[in-house]
Amino acid sequence: MKIAVAGTGYVGLVTGTCLAEMGQTVVCFDVQEEKIAALQQGRSPIYEPDLEQLIEKNMEAGRLSFTAEEKEAYGEADIVFLAVGTPEKEDGSADLTYIEAAVSSIAQNMTKDIVLVTKSTVPVGTNERMRVMIERWKPRFLRASVISNPEFLREGSAIHDWFYGDRIVIGASEADREAAELLIRLYEPLGIPIVRTDLASAEMIKYASNAFLATKISFINEIANICEKVGATIDDVAYGIGLDKRIGSHFLRAGIGYGGSCFPKDTKALVQIAGNVQHQFELLEAVIQVNNHQQALLVEKAKQYMSLRGKNVALLGLAFKPNTDDVREAASIVIANRLLAEGAHVVAYDPIATNNAKRHLPSSVRYARSVTEAIRDADAAFIVTEWDVIKQTPLSVFREKMRIPIIFDGRNCYSLEEAKQANVTYVSIGRAAVV
Ligand code: UGA
Repeated sequence: MKIAVAGTGYVGLVTGTCLAEMGQTVVCFDVQEEKIAALQQGRSPIYEPDLEQLIEKNMEAGRLSFTAEEKEAYGEADIVFLAVGTPEKEDGSADLTYIEAAVSSIAQNMTKDIVLVTKSTVPVGTNERMRVMIERWKPRFLRASVISNPEFLREGSAIHDWFYGDRIVIGASEADREAAELLIRLYEPLGIPIVRTDLASAEMIKYASNAFLATKISFINEIANICEKVGATIDDVAYGIGLDKRIGSHFLRAGIGYGGSCFPKDTKALVQIAGNVQHQFELLEAVIQVNNHQQALLVEKAKQYMSLRGKNVALLGLAFKPNTDDVREAASIVIANRLLAEGAHVVAYDPIATNNAKRHLPSSVRYARSVTEAIRDADAAFIVTEWDVIKQTPLSVFREKMRIPIIFDGRNCYSLEEAKQANVTYVSIGRAAVV
């Protein structure tokens, strides 16, 4: 069986590489020739733990290859995984231009019956429309099946999530039952529970999962903000509620809101999807609003302690979360812009994401090569991403290096005890300030 993957972004690259690791022969296609050229040299365009080693290993084994030629990618394929981007349009809805272009190209280049598997997150109803599209464009004597197979991997632990995911969702119409069975057989060696549904339900599972996780985060952030005012401690509260199995302890880390390429985009898209069928998704609208507020909150808090005008501020962490170089929708961008608007001088540090951040942050931001370089002589430090290298820096180092040791921690990296012992001013989320 030959497998093609359309799109070498996060999902495409991980899908292609992991399928090759499972013993399949995979060719990954992308329209960006430079990206393909780098991949052909075994270089990954994204930072993801273990990905580059797996790419190299599977290329050497002859199971994984990369091409910018559509014919080469789709001409021989039995299964095509669609993992192209669905960026956000101005009104919050998903832009399906890349999906349509890929379906058209697959239809023009296919030479045998094909199973089209959609990994990209697409609005409910899209896979059904794709079925109609490919039916219209493909050679008449060939068959094309369409399967919805949404992806649940997290950046930073994508390879692990592929092999040890909680579930695999396979949505197909009755007519494509055989294709769904083929895909189930492909995934079977992973031993992960498979949820078999119709197309619309599979699409909905993806949006509902991300929306629910985003809701958990906004919920705990609101509880944290109330904790601060009533003298409760969010760590104890989150632990206490998380032990209830019906609630679960995951995704209850209060902080500066969710970022990344998925939650912000998918929550807005689901509000749109609901709106299209005259349903106002008020709960999710509130989740989004709370998140926007939370991303800006740390600077507002800082202003209660000091004027930021003319101050040297260290911004620690730029990626939207640790173990990724992705800064899309990261709180660091909101915070940096707010700090600059308040008249602060910003020195930023991130172990991996600096190059990407440079494209998103104003040019007046300066960059340090280490935590200690960033905090040297600083008047305040903002902790934005809980990288190990940041949270393992003892608070005593902050006290020694900074001009004024005041730390605004958006990720609750330290205990209040440590802050007291280190003799620093420490303001975190959902906990009493140490002054
Ligand atoms: C998320 C989902 O977790 C994946 O299941 C999904 O496949 C993916 O989106 C997607 O749709 O492609 P990801 O965006 O990589 O994955 O990252 P998460 O680990 O979910 O974190 C998202 C954001 O939430 C980060 O900014 C993180 O800091 C924040 N977060 C997470 C919190 O603020 N508190 C928490 O308790 C957990």
